[in-house]
Amino acid sequence: MSETATLRFASGEEIGLPVFTGGEGEKALDIEKLRAATGMVTLDEAYLNTASCRSAITYLDGEKGILRYRGYPIEELAEKSRFVEVAYLLMYGDLPIASQLDDFSAILNGSSLIHEDMRHFFLAFPNNAHPMSLLTTMVASLSAFYPVPENPTDEEEAQIIANLMSQVRTISAFSYKKFVGEPVVYPSHKLRFVENFLNMMFSSPVSNYQLDPDIVKAIEAFLIIHADHEQNCSTSAVRIAGSSLANVYAVISAGISALWGRRHGGANQAVVTMLRNIQQSGDDGRRFLEAAKSKDSRLMGFGHRIYKTHDPRALIMKKLCHRILGKPGMSDPMFDIAMRLEEAALSDDYFLSRNLYPNVDFYSGLILKAAGIPFDMFTVLFAIGRTPGWLAHWREMRHDANNRIARPRQIYTGPAERFYVPVSQREKHSVGVMRRSHTKALPVAPRDLISSSMDCG
Ligand code: ACO
Repeated sequence: MSETATLRFASGEEIGLPVFTGGEGEKALDIEKLRAATGMVTLDEAYLNTASCRSAITYLDGEKGILRYRGYPIEELAEKSRFVEVAYLLMYGDLPIASQLDDFSAILNGSSLIHEDMRHFFLAFPNNAHPMSLLTTMVASLSAFYPVPENPTDEEEAQIIANLMSQVRTISAFSYKKFVGEPVVYPSHKLRFVENFLNMMFSSPVSNYQLDPDIVKAIEAFLIIHADHEQNCSTSAVRIAGSSLANVYAVISAGISALWGRRHGGANQAVVTMLRNIQQSGDDGRRFLEAAKSKDSRLMGFGHRIYKTHDPRALIMKKLCHRILGKPGMSDPMFDIAMRLEEAALSDDYFLSRNLYPNVDFYSGLILKAAGIPFDMFTVLFAIGRTPGWLAHWREMRHDANNRIARPRQIYTGPAERFYVPVSQREKHSVGVMRRSHTKALPVAPRDLISSSMDCG
């Protein structure tokens, strides 16, 4: 028999709510019928306690620090896999066999150019524009160049996925070239996904970029650990925008916009700014910890809505920092500052009592910095990594027969119904008069009521 929970009101009235059990045993109250049965909705601001969908893509346990894509632990994927393989896994549910991986790589390669006319768009942006502003705009603009059929076939869907994965990468590299005022470098079919990106970023007509296998591996791991994280802010934005059946390029652009904020993907940039400020101030970080504790600022790269222990991605990034920054000539004093800051925070009751641990962004910026990725491109790299995750959710949703438009409710807390008052008759603090009742028509004209007392009834 399926499990139910009983909701009992003070009046003694009771209703049974079905309990849904997920694949890893996590339980959820199914409240779909709650309003029909009781007239009530649930109030859960910022979705602290709401599962917005069922999804078979990513599992995470914030108490235990577990993250798995389609069942595979993130640590294993980051160590052994390639980004393109992980993207296939997220999208289609299983690791590809060799021929599937070859086909997937081929379609990604074949889709890596953007329409040449789109290159003119870059010229219209100021040179110092943040690359995220270019990325979100250019990705939305793809919709004008690559029309999407109303109901894409599997083949058309595969092409959309390849376009977005490949072109987000190409646009990102072109944005950087615009930023530094250099001619763009086109993608090459001879290079793999990550190598191709680094080559587009750092090659120029006057010098070839020498690929360092350790840096390639580090960027590969960076993209893998960012590839999906279930219903985070940007993925939820993608699901909500996608549920209206909006154009998929606009939908992914919505995800990029949501990612930009410093509470989310923008945090990797904010962490490096913070570490740089600590370095320049000569302080040991205490001042920043104290400012965070007194709520003047936040310790960037710390805390997470879901993780109440170490974010497993932060542990992977920290390990990678040791590997990369331990190489001769690669050391970075900011890494030492970060480790000291982590140690100090994790022995401080403020952070411990609130379960605030380093999140993925705490060490990831240092990896990007070591790879020579410019500061303003950090969140763009996150977006390249997250694109397959967003697309996997978009795809999962469009193949779900129960997919409906996402439309949360709200609890209204504004004024009760009031009359419109012409501007010539408004007083400074009394711009409307409450109606007496929602059901009864008022016998007097609104104008007459203005001079009467504000008895709102
Ligand atoms: N520094 C200092 N205090 C913090 C921090 C922090 N980084 N994060 C949370 N707190 C405190 C809050 O002030 C609050 O304290 P209180 O209970 O005394 O009021 C408590 O911890 C809970 O914080 P909330 O803001 O309610 O937690 P929420 O789940 O809403 O926010 C978030 C999570 C946004 C990640 C938050 O921890 C934060 O701002 N961290 C810094 C930004 C950051 O690193 N973002 C990247 C997240 S990972 C990602 O998106 C890829």
